[in-house]
Amino acid sequence: MCGIVGYTGKSKAAPFIIEGLKRLEYRGYDSAGVAVIQGGAFEVAKKTGRVANLEKEAARHKLTGTTGIGHTRWATHGGVTDANAHPHVSSDGKIALIHNGVIENYNAIKTFLLGKGYTFKSETDTEVLCNLIAYHYEKEATVAGESRLLESVRKTLHHVEGTYGIVALCIDSPDELITARRGSPLIIGLGQGENIVASDVAAIVSRTQNVIYLNDREIARLTPGEFSISTLDETDIVPVIDKVDWSIDDADKGGHEHYMIKEIFEQPEALENAMRGRISEDGSTAQFGGLNISPGEFRGIERFMFCACGTALHACMVTEHLIETFARIPVECDHASEFRYRNTPLFRDTLFFVMSQSGETIDTLAALREAKRKGYKVLAVNNVVGSTIAREADGGIYQHVGPEVGVASTKAFTSQLLIGALLALYIGRMRDLSFGAGMRYVNALKGAPDLVRKVLNQAPQIKEIARRYAHYSDMLFLGRLSLYPIALEGALKLKEISYIHAEAYPAAEMKHGPIALISEKCPSVFLAPKGEIFNKIVSSMQEIKARKGPIIAVVTEGTELPAGLADDVIFIPECHDAVLPIVASIPMQLLSYYIAVERGCDVDKPRNLAKSVTVE
Ligand code: M6R
Repeated sequence: MCGIVGYTGKSKAAPFIIEGLKRLEYRGYDSAGVAVIQGGAFEVAKKTGRVANLEKEAARHKLTGTTGIGHTRWATHGGVTDANAHPHVSSDGKIALIHNGVIENYNAIKTFLLGKGYTFKSETDTEVLCNLIAYHYEKEATVAGESRLLESVRKTLHHVEGTYGIVALCIDSPDELITARRGSPLIIGLGQGENIVASDVAAIVSRTQNVIYLNDREIARLTPGEFSISTLDETDIVPVIDKVDWSIDDADKGGHEHYMIKEIFEQPEALENAMRGRISEDGSTAQFGGLNISPGEFRGIERFMFCACGTALHACMVTEHLIETFARIPVECDHASEFRYRNTPLFRDTLFFVMSQSGETIDTLAALREAKRKGYKVLAVNNVVGSTIAREADGGIYQHVGPEVGVASTKAFTSQLLIGALLALYIGRMRDLSFGAGMRYVNALKGAPDLVRKVLNQAPQIKEIARRYAHYSDMLFLGRLSLYPIALEGALKLKEISYIHAEAYPAAEMKHGPIALISEKCPSVFLAPKGEIFNKIVSSMQEIKARKGPIIAVVTEGTELPAGLADDVIFIPECHDAVLPIVASIPMQLLSYYIAVERGCDVDKPRNLAKSVTVE
């Protein structure tokens, strides 16, 4: 969840590291820090709050060293204080360390180190790890110069339980970085006379597009001109160098006030990118390049199981609806965090899918590993090329929507919905869905980007509506069938970025309890498109109105609601069932965005959240 940047090269390390931390700030923003080696000592600047605070602090420290490490923190062990911010320096002053993850046995290690005379300034597990490296470094005094730090880190990690992505510096080897991972992503960037390590390519691409994705239980040594990688068990690794296919411009705000609104408006192109090359030549079904499972095998699948977290789980729930409707195969969705511990009875002939924008969510990764351990094939729908989930899955589908920086997922979500719709089509066409129905489905999907543009054009009206609802403390989101997950997503978006308490229900469930919340102080957002249960949803609206609840209704263009029923109406174009969830998501995103802005909230960096959740 935290952000990591390490640099060793010819230029000053601190400006590059701080620039990188700004790009990673969406990962965690309780505090930030940087350490460089200069004049034979560590110079460390760290500060609670945003990277902007660190930048001011760093200016006071005059950081000139050309090797350094930096970190943005999302607190796990210890409160949000300057002392708990990374980097940490060992009490003998030899080692500096940044760390993502959680060291589970840190208490026992700390007791051991206290007995050896090491002292601690913070409450963090990271400082314990740092001192353990210092302890092993001291013991490895006989190891030849260039391997000593590497061997000390290796020894240390053999004693550690938990997860980590770390970068260590040592005062005796001023141009060397040692980096290792287990459970937290790390990427090495190979530059000209400089090498970089970061938790996210966003911090690397301004210098190089040549990267190596470090695997779990691998450790690397970087100097300005060299790098080597081995496993913790000392087997040398022949690295695979990948080329990142996006540039730094893709990760900028492009004139928008926030990444979130930029990404909301990018959705038509994002959908086109997610669809590109995935429609069969005859225009009646979908095709995928990387499933690594033959059509024959696919045809033998009797059940699907989808695991994901947060927004991605909502995309899975819509996919469940579409697969069951169009392919008539049972689908189960589960919270990835629950799946692993529930010990769910599983059927043979089940195909697993995980969905994850980042591809680094630890709960989703754990679900993937658990399913594989049980002998199932697992495919991944994922946006970040080279992510851990992408590499560990047996195959999958990339979303291809470019970097999503806003903590609140938007374009990644609608592209997951589109991929879910393509999957339902692909499976449906293997079974009962006719050629004609397939053609109509494909044409509808092709039209989705334009329909989304149409809803986006209503942003000014939705902004006006949002202004009128920004002062409420509670809201209900109600939808049915494929729009129930969209109601869940609407409520999640609102909670995340505006801190308004919001809940979502299938509209008819509302009268089984939540209706007790209704008064003039609790508005409801109804997703009420044209369709066979439209009249039922209108009845639910009447029940709310009878209790003075304000109503925002999202309805199909041309719909006339009974006079006075809805206080505000947002129109969406009429569309195919496979496209409806995508189109209906847009008003949810815009409403929550404009409400949060009206409330003065920090939309791109909501409190307590991080873009990718890499701790359990
Ligand atoms: O990267 P992932 O898709 O695995 O992330 C899963 C959730 O953490 C994520 O969707 C979260 O709910 C978002 N902040 C939603 O906006």
